[in-house]
Amino acid sequence: MTDLTHLTAPTDLTEPVAFPQSRTCPYHPPTGYDPLRADRPLTRVTLYDGRPAWLVTGHATARALLADQRLSSDRTRPGFPATTPRFAAFRDRTAALVGVDDPKHRTQRRMMIPGFTVKRATAMRPDIQRIVDERLDAMIARGGPADLVPAFALPVPSMVICGLLGVPYADHEFFEEQSRRLLRGPSPEDSQDARAQLDDYLGELIDRKQREPGEGLLDDLVREQLNEGTLDRAELSALGLILLVAGHETTANMISLGTFTLLRHPERLAELRADPRLLPDVVEELMRSLSIVDGLMRLAVEDIEVDGVTIRAGEGVLFSTSVVNRDEAVYTAPDALDWHRPARHHIAFGFGIHQCLGQNLARAELEIALRSLFDRLPTLRLAASAEEIPFKPGDTIQGMLELPVTW
Ligand code: HEM
Repeated sequence: MTDLTHLTAPTDLTEPVAFPQSRTCPYHPPTGYDPLRADRPLTRVTLYDGRPAWLVTGHATARALLADQRLSSDRTRPGFPATTPRFAAFRDRTAALVGVDDPKHRTQRRMMIPGFTVKRATAMRPDIQRIVDERLDAMIARGGPADLVPAFALPVPSMVICGLLGVPYADHEFFEEQSRRLLRGPSPEDSQDARAQLDDYLGELIDRKQREPGEGLLDDLVREQLNEGTLDRAELSALGLILLVAGHETTANMISLGTFTLLRHPERLAELRADPRLLPDVVEELMRSLSIVDGLMRLAVEDIEVDGVTIRAGEGVLFSTSVVNRDEAVYTAPDALDWHRPARHHIAFGFGIHQCLGQNLARAELEIALRSLFDRLPTLRLAASAEEIPFKPGDTIQGMLELPVTW
């Protein structure tokens, strides 16, 4: 495993860099992006299908462009860039929130906001703590070694999002497996099939909720929007899909990769154990430095002049959150894990109108999960050599495939 302690010198990039690439070390950007970490804030890269696109790597430029409505998120537009064949295969299906532009986006987002305020996330803390405690009790009762991914990192956010949405946790094996195929399936057809299965599942769930209303955000949406005619069925199903998938996959990866990263920095972990009040800053620094959603996608719908270049209408614009969040103009010694720095203003949750809807909930889950894990298991350590533990490839959300631990 390579620790990047210094940056490669700027090169003139005669050959466009391929995007996305896999990480060499799960908690650092791919070394293949080193040439992009020079002083230019955006560069031409080549996508898997040979198509060129812009990749934004500078912090100020990223924030300006992510707030620029001349960049569209509408995946159904012809020419919308695809970073993987699997993404290309299902971009024409009904999308919600992250896949639509204003005014549709604004309408959908307004419907969602009450479920995702700081107040709501704070109110959910006792429930999150109960879920975390139960998973840890079960893991400890079984005894080490354990794979932390299925034992803890995945079920905690899965149970939390099920409770919030009103999705039966009894179905978790089904939707976790479909999410995995959607995000990391072996072929575009496999991911398409997973998407179809999730659509069917959510369609049936919505029907059931219309017949027998229950408690949860989806029930509220059925009652207040679907039955009132302000939201159609396909849109509600697409909203349910993004909330269910984004709600568990992302946070699960942050828990597994965050734990791995802290175990690989024992002196930092000792500091955290000695002073749990550091936790909110630790979570923010982990978010910045791990940047697990690394490759936000947009399409230019008008020409845009920025930093001396012209992005032409019809060109794809991607954002490497991992490189943006290590811009030396903003973060001193950006490769170091240092929660005494101001890590705020990172774009690990995105920026602009699509900034992560679930960020308050994700922060609450991460704080509770990490604090409880290290409190309950003071001798927690890796149960395999760090170099042998598999992590996710570069074309999907970053995280650990397995995390063998013991205590
Ligand atoms: C630590 C975990 C998380 C990370 C790293 C993360 C990251 C992101 C990022 C980068 C975006 C912006 C995408 C873009 O602009 O193209 C985003 C949007 C979104 N996230 Fe998260 N997310 C996390 C947790 C969650 C959770 C727990 C939920 C739901 C419960 C959620 C729901 C969403 C939704 C619905 C959007 C789209 C918002 C919109 O378009 O208005 N996320 N997330």
